[in-house]
Amino acid sequence: MTRAILLTGGAGFIGSNFVHMLAEQRPDWLCVNLDALTYAGNMQNLAMVEGSTQHRFIHGDICKTEDVERALDACGDLPISVVHMAAESHVDRSIISGLPFVQTNVLGTQVLLDACRARGIERFVHVSTDEVYGSLGSEGFFTEDTTLAPNSPYSASKAASDMLVRAAFHTHGFPVLTTRCSNNYGPWQFPEKLVPLMLANAREDKPLPVYGDGMQVRDWLYVEDHCEAILAVLERGELGEVYNIGGHNEYPNIEIVKTILAAMGKPESLITYVTDRPGHDRRYAIDASKIDATLGWRPRWTFEQALPATIEWYASQVEWLQGLRTGAYRDYYAQQYGSDSEG
Ligand code: NAD
Ligand code: TYD
Repeated sequence: MTRAILLTGGAGFIGSNFVHMLAEQRPDWLCVNLDALTYAGNMQNLAMVEGSTQHRFIHGDICKTEDVERALDACGDLPISVVHMAAESHVDRSIISGLPFVQTNVLGTQVLLDACRARGIERFVHVSTDEVYGSLGSEGFFTEDTTLAPNSPYSASKAASDMLVRAAFHTHGFPVLTTRCSNNYGPWQFPEKLVPLMLANAREDKPLPVYGDGMQVRDWLYVEDHCEAILAVLERGELGEVYNIGGHNEYPNIEIVKTILAAMGKPESLITYVTDRPGHDRRYAIDASKIDATLGWRPRWTFEQALPATIEWYASQVEWLQGLRTGAYRDYYAQQYGSDSEG
């Protein structure tokens, strides 16, 4: 192994896709995966790397210095870079209770920064979101210079973590890079987010809840493209910089839902308009020209390719989806790994 990546949140949606990408594209890098296995963490997402010497799982919490130190120790003598994805990530949950978001996204990020700074690491990529910029009208795009104006407890906690990362760079010269990406879709996404929820409900002929008028716009990016952008920033990004990541792929929610129903041969009568999300951001859209011009990254997948691929993937993963619906996925770690905290 030539270097170690300490990945936080690697049992979640984007994290598990990142683990698979590293296994394929950087097989000589050790991936140490620190994850608390909250409801959003699922070891089944990582079944493909079970037993691999290239992947090491550490069951731990980024809010606890001793857990972060355990993960850093697992990197051995290799040069270490950090990719920080662990977070509470769902806006609707943050509306019910903001506290876990402040705990992990704000406090956890500072604990991680401090422990990594004490250890002396090479690079720290902070994976953030376009939601920190707030909401757009029908015109314009978020650039890296757009003022942060978060509107939900989720996006406010992410914006706070962005500020802590920025401060670590300016105060301590800590080698950080920040990415802000638009909405992702693809394999292993927890079925509380729009795309997998609609796929799961449509499969079972259950109502598809569309918030408000369904005309809120998101800029959709296939998760593999996001992972490749993070890798580009990790390897070639300029320290202290922020990189927006997006696909110029805007659709109103209702159009996504109708496209899914049509692709699955299900009737639009399953669509159920429900009370709007409080403080619902109307439109997100990313200007990703900086990462294109400076690092040569642009999405490889078109929406026309990737949405059907995603629909097919979920159709082939009935057992995985069922486990998430019933909660059985939470037993998988204990069954596979016993009560040990590493695997
Ligand atoms: P996710 O909710 O699917 O996964 C989060 C992971 O973090 C889970 O495995 C969970 O167990 C772990 N985790 C939570 N709290 C932890 C803690 N205290 N210590 C250690 N691990 C903990 O999230 P995701 O959709 O994969 O998002 C990953 C990151 O990307 C987040 O930081 C999110 O803000 C950001 N992001 C997500 C999207 C998106 O569309 N999903 C878009 C842009 C940015
Ligand atoms: P979501 O996947 O939760 O991502 P985010 O809120 O971070 O953008 O939601 C995407 C969009 O879909 C958002 O505008 C809210 C909407 N939405 C629904 O209309 N119904 C739903 O059941 C969900 C989960 C989301």
